[in-house]
Amino acid sequence: MLPDAAIAPYVLRPTADRATIRWGSEAKESAIELRDGDARWTVLGEDRGDGLFEARLDGLRPGVRYHYRRVGVEEIRSFRTASSEFSLVVFGDPQNHLHYPEAVATMVALQPDLAVGLGDYVGASDGTSYRRFLHLSEPLLATTALLPVPGNHDYRRHSSPFPEENDSEVFDRYLGDGKGNQVSLSWRPVRLLGLNYPDRGTWTLDCPRAQWLRTQLREARSAGQRAVLFQHCPCFTSTRITWAVDDRVLPVLLGEFADVVLADLGGHIHTYERSRYPDRPGVPFITTGGAGELYDYPVDVCPNPYQIVAADRLHVCRLRVRAEGITVAAVALDGQTFDEFGL
Ligand SMILES: [Fe+2]
Repeated sequence: MLPDAAIAPYVLRPTADRATIRWGSEAKESAIELRDGDARWTVLGEDRGDGLFEARLDGLRPGVRYHYRRVGVEEIRSFRTASSEFSLVVFGDPQNHLHYPEAVATMVALQPDLAVGLGDYVGASDGTSYRRFLHLSEPLLATTALLPVPGNHDYRRHSSPFPEENDSEVFDRYLGDGKGNQVSLSWRPVRLLGLNYPDRGTWTLDCPRAQWLRTQLREARSAGQRAVLFQHCPCFTSTRITWAVDDRVLPVLLGEFADVVLADLGGHIHTYERSRYPDRPGVPFITTGGAGELYDYPVDVCPNPYQIVAADRLHVCRLRVRAEGITVAAVALDGQTFDEFGL
C-alpha cells in the first residue's frame, strides 16, 4: 500500500469561495465528488506522490456546508465556507498526541465552523507522525476545515536555536501551502491571519513576514475588518521557559494597529495564559498550548506583568463571532469553560 493512501479527505484554509482539499488513494487517478444541495460535481486530484492527492476548489458560495466524498468511497464528509457569524476552535501543540484524542472530542462537541492549529502537530517532522496526527484528527476534520500554522517541531530540524537551514517540506506536504505559510483568510467581519512564526528569534520588526503582516493589517483597516492573529511562538509567559516566548516583535508591531487587532493567540508553551499589552485596554495575547500534554513548567513562577489569568490545564480555545459581539473561551478537556471574555 502506498504510504499516504489511507488518509481520509480533509479541507484546508477555506474562505467564502475557495478551499484546498487533500486525500489519500491507492489509485493512479482520484477525484472528489462535491455536493451543494442537489448539485453534484467531481474534481480530479493532482497527484502529490506516494498516494496523496490535492485539489483546489474555487467558485464556492459563502456560508454553505459542502458535503464531499472520495469517488468510489461511501463515507461523506463536510466543511463550511466563510460566513459573517461563525465559531472556531483553536488548539496548540498536539505533538506527542498523549491527550490529543480528548482534545479532538472536546472540539467536536463545540461544533465549530473552522479549526485553527497553532503548530507542533508532531514531535518529529516525518510522514508517519503526520499520518498519525491526521488519523487522530479525523472526527474533527470530518466536519471542519483546518487553518494550520507551523510550529518549530513541524520543521525538519526543530531544535533550539532554530537553525537557518531548516525546511518545512514535510509540513507543506500534509498541511502547509508551499508558499511560505503566511495565510490570510477573510471571514467577514474578521480577517484570520495565520503566521509562520515558529520560535523565538525567527522574526524581527523589519523581516519580510513582519512587513507582510503590516500590509495585511493596513488592508484590514481600509476594508473595515478586524483581525485575529495565530502563530506558534507566543509573546508572554509566567513559566520559567522565558526562552520560548518572544515579546520583541508582535507586541510592538501590533501597537500600531490597536484599532484593528482583536487578539493574538500563540502555542508552544503547554499552559493557558491570558495577558494584555501594554495595559488593560491593550491587545489580548493568549498562550494556548494545551491540546497534547502538560509538562513540568507551571505558570506563575516568573513575573508576567501583563497577565490577567493563567492555568496549568489541558484545554482548547473557542472564538465565537456573532452580530452582538465576539467572545473567546478557554475550554478544558472535560468540557468545563474556565476563562471567558469579550473582544
Ligand atoms: Fe513548539
